[in-house]
Amino acid sequence: MNLILKNIKQLIGITENSDVIKKGTAQGEVTTLDNAYLIIRDNIIESFGPMSECPEVSMDSHDCSNRLLLPMYVDSHSHLVFAESRSGEMKMRLHGKTYQEIAETGGGILNSAAKLHAMSEQQLYDDAQVRLEQVIKQGTGAIEMKSGYGLSIEDEMKMLRVIRVLKSLSPIPIKSTFLGAHALPLEFKDNKDAYMYLVCNEMLPRIAGEGLADYIDIFCETGYFDLNDLKQIIEAGDKHGLKAKVHVNQFSTFGAVKLACEMGALSVDHLEVMNDEDYTALQNSNTIATGLPLCSLFLDIPYTPGRQLIDKNIPLAIASDFNPGSAPSSNLNLAFGLACSQMKLTPEEAFNALTYNAAFAMEVQDEVGSIQVGKKANLILTKPANGLEDIPYWFGDNMIESVIV
Ligand code: NIG
Ligand code: FE
Repeated sequence: MNLILKNIKQLIGITENSDVIKKGTAQGEVTTLDNAYLIIRDNIIESFGPMSECPEVSMDSHDCSNRLLLPMYVDSHSHLVFAESRSGEMKMRLHGKTYQEIAETGGGILNSAAKLHAMSEQQLYDDAQVRLEQVIKQGTGAIEMKSGYGLSIEDEMKMLRVIRVLKSLSPIPIKSTFLGAHALPLEFKDNKDAYMYLVCNEMLPRIAGEGLADYIDIFCETGYFDLNDLKQIIEAGDKHGLKAKVHVNQFSTFGAVKLACEMGALSVDHLEVMNDEDYTALQNSNTIATGLPLCSLFLDIPYTPGRQLIDKNIPLAIASDFNPGSAPSSNLNLAFGLACSQMKLTPEEAFNALTYNAAFAMEVQDEVGSIQVGKKANLILTKPANGLEDIPYWFGDNMIESVIV
């Protein structure tokens, strides 16, 4: 695509380079330009500047008066590939059962795995493709997707092959993560070690051998997988060249953040429950903290303490966690609103968490995540707006007029 965008009221999220993640006071720094133009050539941001310096070019032109132009969101944590809705479980919760109780009786992740097992690979792909289109319309311009509803070698590979096809056909960058250690299948109920062996020594070598995953993940939580499993997973990932992005501290804290940080995880995600040791470990590492406010809203659990993380100079990303159990929403516009109203971030901090920093959390910072010459022109054009704060202000709505991908 070649296009010139003119009279942009505010061009938001400009960077000169994307060498370092934003943390501390830098997390709240957003460079903007009033009354700007931007030129897209061959789908890449070629140049931008003030309207007073707008060059004469012969290409399609679009007037952006009264509107903001910003980079699309980056969703560094999703479970977009899944078989079916689990709305019945929401109903059970509203009748008094907890997320953990539902999981213990074969619901939860195991429920998703049974449904995925029964679904054809083609159908799984078709449904995921529809969801991906929806995600893009909502302003997401790059996305990570996990396996983890397979829990057998065949079904984990089925999920990852679906992600591979999405990757090859998608207009936005996609990264894939192997999450074999998501829940213990019933047949391994009393033999976690055997399942861990299967994940690390049978599933992972085949998956890595076929280049089906970019990262490795585990659900490290009371009742799921423990510190010893976390260590095994990160070591196995290292052996096969897959960095770790891990689920930790959703419901409890027992040293997982420290271990993941010490072992060089790219990101630790969830972090709803945090103690001093967890903060210190993050401060002494390069690991990125990732908050998932749509999950907190849906399950009515605490929000990731975003304000504290930023005040402690820890880089924060925010992602959707889109999945059928704990976050059936991929809407990062709503996540933006929650980041401000519930996690007490400024609009600028939340914006950086959802764009620039999230790009680092899935290593696409050279391609997307800011308005920078040479990056992909994956852009959000808003409806008429006063400023960036209008997005979290009109929470639950969508300030997007159109997206350019
Ligand atoms: O990130 N916490 C573990 N995994 C997902 C939920 C999975 C599910 O309930 O299907 C999450 O919240
Ligand atoms: Fe998740």
